[in-house]
Parts: sequence; structure tokens; C-alpha cells
Amino acid sequence: SKGGYSHFMLKEIHDSPLAVKETLSTMMADDSVDKAVKVMSQANRIFVVAAGTSYHAGLIFGRELNMSGFTVIPMIASEYPSYRTRAGDVILALSQSGETLDVKMAIKEFKNEGSTIISITNVIESTISRESDVKLYMRAGPELGVAATKTFVSQVASLLLLKSKILGEKLDYLSHAHEVLEASLEGTEGQMKKWSSTLISAPSMYYLSKGVGLPMALEGALKIKEVAYVHAESYPAGESKHGPIALVSEGFPVVFLDPGIDELKVNIEEMKSRGARIFYVGTSKGISKDEVEVRLEKGLEPFALAPPIQLLAYYVSVGKGLDPDRPRNLAKTVTVE
Ligand code: F6R
Repeated sequence: SKGGYSHFMLKEIHDSPLAVKETLSTMMADDSVDKAVKVMSQANRIFVVAAGTSYHAGLIFGRELNMSGFTVIPMIASEYPSYRTRAGDVILALSQSGETLDVKMAIKEFKNEGSTIISITNVIESTISRESDVKLYMRAGPELGVAATKTFVSQVASLLLLKSKILGEKLDYLSHAHEVLEASLEGTEGQMKKWSSTLISAPSMYYLSKGVGLPMALEGALKIKEVAYVHAESYPAGESKHGPIALVSEGFPVVFLDPGIDELKVNIEEMKSRGARIFYVGTSKGISKDEVEVRLEKGLEPFALAPPIQLLAYYVSVGKGLDPDRPRNLAKTVTVE
């Protein structure tokens, strides 16, 4: 049931704090997690294999570990023929459904090359989990909207748990994840409704960030394309001057996700001076008339940034009279090549 919400997507966005709590408590009690951590800690390289939203979660994991000296290579599953593994490499397959054909094909190939396969899926005994050496589960609960929302944040939570265990970090910070999500849902929904009225008529937009915010910007662009049919592009903010800024003219919408305090100041000024309409999510003030504040806690930034990107896509979709639960041309589980 939609539990009083008009769409599954909106319900599932609001279910995120609970889903994350479930994911963390299940995974903290799962012995397979320690096995996976051991395997990954001893790995030569870790290849993260995923598609779509799951790939964006994988980018967060990759960045965190790469910054600590590990070699993590996030890969879009359908591009697997461009990669070769060797002895000592480990595959981390991420798939909400556990049935995505691109991911299945990639892990089959890497298994043949001798790699150990670890998977995180949301569906117990999914095909991908059955084909894995170590099976991990998010247990975020079923997701009925086609767009991945609560399962994305659960995936991120599961990956942050793994990375903290791999790095021997304390895990206490993760117990705030659901509160950060709750505060962001509460604090951004009204504003996202307002922003949606401008974006309804936008033919095109940019979603920009850097660092830990970048996978979130990529995810924001995917969501708004997927459920609201707005052409959206995302790339690291520093790249604007290397080409994409040429597209920007008066009123061109640019959403900035600021992963820290004023980390995007120069990039925002650059866009403003070309007449872009700036929508700002972050902690700085006075950046634009369209700004919303989120609580950025170190290590938990994705949980502050996920609600506004998901809610914005939702409200633009509904504002256009579309059904966000059923985007055209898409299936929840992609079992074709
Ligand atoms: C976007 C979305 C898709 C999936 C992708 C992978 O909202 O849902 O991009 O993330 O098809 O699906 P899974 O995670 O089931 O392998």
C-alpha cells in the first residue's frame, strides 16, 4: 500500500530513514559482512560492478577507499569487456534487484577469470546473490516504484559500513544516518515543491558538485531524467570551463550540491556570471534566492543530499502530470542486454 502517499515513489523516499536503520542493524549482525571485509581488505584491487543508481552508490564507496590508498575501480556493468581482472582481484557486485543482466554477465566473466565475487542485493537468494561467493543483503524492504530511492540510500549505508570496517574506523557515526535523512526530508520538501515549478518548463539543466557530492549530482540528474523527462547532465563542477559552460545562457537552471562549506563558490560565481539560474543545496547562505540548507555531517553527506534530489525529481514529474511510479520505456528490473 502507498500508506497515504499519492505514489510509491514518495512513500519510499519517506521510508528511507527506516530502510537505512534496517540495513545497518541487519548488516551489523551478519557474519558474512566480516567475511566480505576480510576478502576486500586483502584484495589486490576491488572492482565495483553495477548499473544506474547502484553504480552511483558504488562511486561513493570507491572514492572513500581510493582516498585511503586502496585501489577500487567502479565499473558500469555493461562495459565489463573493457576490463580485465587478475589474481587477487575481488568483485563487489551491487544490484538492488539482484537480477540485472549486465551485472550477471560481468560477474560470470570475472568468475571465469578467477575473481572472488561479493554481492549486495536487496532480494534474498536473487540470481546475483546465488552466483556470489559472499552474499550480503540490504534488507531495505521491497521497493515498488520503478525509480530506486530508499534502496539507494540503503545501498550507500551498507557500503559506508563496509568501508569503515575495511579501514578499521569507528562505526558510531552511522547511527546518525537516519536522523540526517529525516532532517533533510523535513527541511527540503517544501523548497523542492517550489523549485519544481520552475523546472517543469526547463528543457535542459545541469546538476553540479564535486567530491562526495558528485555521485549524488549524477544520481540527481538520472532521477530527473527518468521520472520527469527533463534533460539533465551532471559532471564535476570544475569541468564547466572546459566546455559545458558554453550551453549556459540566461535562466539556464543549474542545481549545485555543496558537499562542504562554500566548496563550490567559484563554480557558482562562474555560472551566475553567465546568467544561470542557481538552485543551491548546502550549508552556505546568501548564494541564491533559491537555496535550501541541509545538515552536512562528516561522512554522512549522501544522506543529507539524497532527499532533495529525489524529491525534486518527484515533484517535477507530478507537476508535469506524469506518473513517477511508471516512467515510460523503463522496467524495475532490467533483464535484457
Ligand atoms: C534508477 C534505477 C536504475 C537501476 C538499475 C540497476 O532509478 O532504478 O538505474 O538502479 O537498473 O538496477 P539494480 O540495482 O536492480 O541492478
